[in-house]
Amino acid sequence: MSALAFSRLDERDHEAAAFDILTSGGDQRIVLDGEGRNRYNLPLRPVASPYSFSSTTASPLAARGYREVLSVYQSIYGELAAGKRAVDIYRSHVLQIKSGILTLLGYAARDDAAPRCILSPSGTDSHRNAAILLNRMVGLPLTFLTIEDAETGSGVPHALQKTSDGRAHAVVGISAREEDGSPLNSASIESELNRQVQASKDGGSRAVLVVTDVSKTGVLWPSLRSVLNMKERWGSDLEVVVDACQMRVSPSVVREYLAHGFMVIITGSKFLGGPTFSGALLIPSDRKNVSSSDPTFRNKVVRPECDVLRSQEANLGLVLRWRAALAEWTAFCALNESLVISAIDRFSKSVRTFIDKAPQLELLSTPLLGREEFEGAHSWSARQSIFTFLIKGRDGSWMGRQDLAQLHAKLAHLKTPILLGQPVSCGVRGGAPVAALRLSLSAPMLTDIASDDHLESVIQNAVIALITVLDLRP
Ligand SMILES: Cc1ncc(COP(=O)(O)O)c(C=O)c1O
Repeated sequence: MSALAFSRLDERDHEAAAFDILTSGGDQRIVLDGEGRNRYNLPLRPVASPYSFSSTTASPLAARGYREVLSVYQSIYGELAAGKRAVDIYRSHVLQIKSGILTLLGYAARDDAAPRCILSPSGTDSHRNAAILLNRMVGLPLTFLTIEDAETGSGVPHALQKTSDGRAHAVVGISAREEDGSPLNSASIESELNRQVQASKDGGSRAVLVVTDVSKTGVLWPSLRSVLNMKERWGSDLEVVVDACQMRVSPSVVREYLAHGFMVIITGSKFLGGPTFSGALLIPSDRKNVSSSDPTFRNKVVRPECDVLRSQEANLGLVLRWRAALAEWTAFCALNESLVISAIDRFSKSVRTFIDKAPQLELLSTPLLGREEFEGAHSWSARQSIFTFLIKGRDGSWMGRQDLAQLHAKLAHLKTPILLGQPVSCGVRGGAPVAALRLSLSAPMLTDIASDDHLESVIQNAVIALITVLDLRP
């Protein structure tokens, strides 16, 4: 397109084209259906609903992200119109995004301690990248020890099996909860993990512990004490990767993980509130030299972001999505932490009180987020921001996954949608498997609360969302 033709595009054309790009460069999960919604029941346009509590799964584009998407799109299009190649534009945006991520994590420019950052379309894709890299670094088959399937991304176990030569790594899912959904104690998890590390060593493979900080229902698994105990016990016989895809951790926690030599996977699309599909793998600085000789990184600016996984040359959708997430993250980082903590505490107290008083609801219990090994208790990320609850149907029994999936979709299709995290299976009650829905806080929501001082209305909206759940349940 010529510069003149470009300048003649009106705002609506720009928006339509930007949205078109926004749904590209991911997988089936972001493709829109006949009603213009993705797999998470979300439309692409910002949703005018005060009941957006779905950040554990995916959030609609919020106002700040929307403005950023349009503005980045316009600058990209301006460059294209001026004759710049898409791949060059893409490269320079990727570098900017990586440096934005590192800055927000607290690393200075050209900081030797800064990790290498590899973008990818999603958290799931970043797990695949981690598996490919670790396999190359270690030179042995891998056995991934992960939290049980229900608590992580549904495609994660499959993504970890990926090897560069077509064989499959082993993935062992280990429970985080008792059969009735209550949390397992950390000593028994640690002892099972140690047994598995020994078994993989005996079998000639290298164990990789996938620490989940935090899981879909807000569990930090296993406890940090267990992670450090195990690393001390097994040394180089144990690799550690941290799944921080929910991004409910402060930058200092991410830096601590990296300083311990653990790879960390993050996304911009859960707590940070960016549009669905933006992942990154952070590789500790002391392992960068191992990876730079790796064929996976040849032509390293372009390849890892798209070609490891897909054949596109320039994933501009990924650029728009990450830029929206960075805009939200930047605003969140500028907040006064005490305000954030007090907002989370007050929100949490009100939601818990409502659920405790409703006999048809039950809050799924999660262990406290003990990160004392890495940060003080006076941190927003030591607070729980995911509230997972079971619902009794009108027949008096706890609802299962399928019924909850229907209820979740019904809520999302209301005139003023009520958006909650998708159902998660969480044990067995009265012999039948049960599931839970999730209501969560996000960075954009906390930023709005802090800047407009409307915590009370957000709390009221959460209560309205829960009342509507009760009204609409079958
Ligand atoms: C703990 C956790 N890990 C990984 C993922 C996968 O991330 P993505 O949806 O970006 O593939 C999710 C998704 O919900 C998650 O909750």
